[in-house]
Amino acid sequence: MAEIIIALDYPRLDAALSLVDRVGDAVSFYKVGPVLYTRTGPTVLRELRTRGKRIFLDLKLHDIPNTVAHSVEAAAELEVDLLTVHASGGSAMMRAAAEAAGENGPRLLGVTLLTSFTPGDVEEVWGKQLLSVRDETLRLVALAAEAGLHGIVTSALEAEAVKRRHGAEFLVVTPGIRPSGELAGDQARTATPADAVRAGADYLVIGRPVTAAADPAEVVRRIRAEMEGVREVAG
Ligand code: C5P
Repeated sequence: MAEIIIALDYPRLDAALSLVDRVGDAVSFYKVGPVLYTRTGPTVLRELRTRGKRIFLDLKLHDIPNTVAHSVEAAAELEVDLLTVHASGGSAMMRAAAEAAGENGPRLLGVTLLTSFTPGDVEEVWGKQLLSVRDETLRLVALAAEAGLHGIVTSALEAEAVKRRHGAEFLVVTPGIRPSGELAGDQARTATPADAVRAGADYLVIGRPVTAAADPAEVVRRIRAEMEGVREVAG
């Protein structure tokens, strides 16, 4: 069954931990991004560990292979469970990262095209015309899989194709989740929790639908019910 990861997109430690404590046992996996990590350093990770939570450190690493490999080793020391690296950092960088993670380090997820990137941006940065965001995403997923990464962050719309091509073990983590009946906000490529589970996602990253809710634990219960509904139909 897919798991919920809540994105702790808060600028301050106290606000982030207050959300974690309000949600309580309902969720055991949290994503920490560069804003919170830059503010607090490893403190936020230690606080999550103390509460028995698992950690997705979303730093989207992109550097020379040696630097990325040492960053992965540092994340392993902090007992991070999932860590992101940019697939566009290239095969050598991803291979170095995977080697540094080894059997016991964080599971590494490739980031393909940022959702904020338009075909015009791709043309400007990489000097090539982008005919299909989906094809370019799947091309970068293949590069990540060949380099030995453990999975990918991608929209639920690509999840099924990724699982078909790279196998059930290759992790698919999907952001852009919006519970049925909610507005997408600034997310362009959204899916409901049920859609993401049906598409084969392993982890659903959910931010504002939970963090901006008056009753976050209640929203989590609703999302989980939506996810479990799929299992009942399927099973
Ligand atoms: O608030 P919302 O549910 O849109 O948050 C989604 C989370 O997933 C945010 O932390 C965002 O940075 C992250 N994310 C994303 N799209 C990607 C990769 C990561 O929304 N392609």
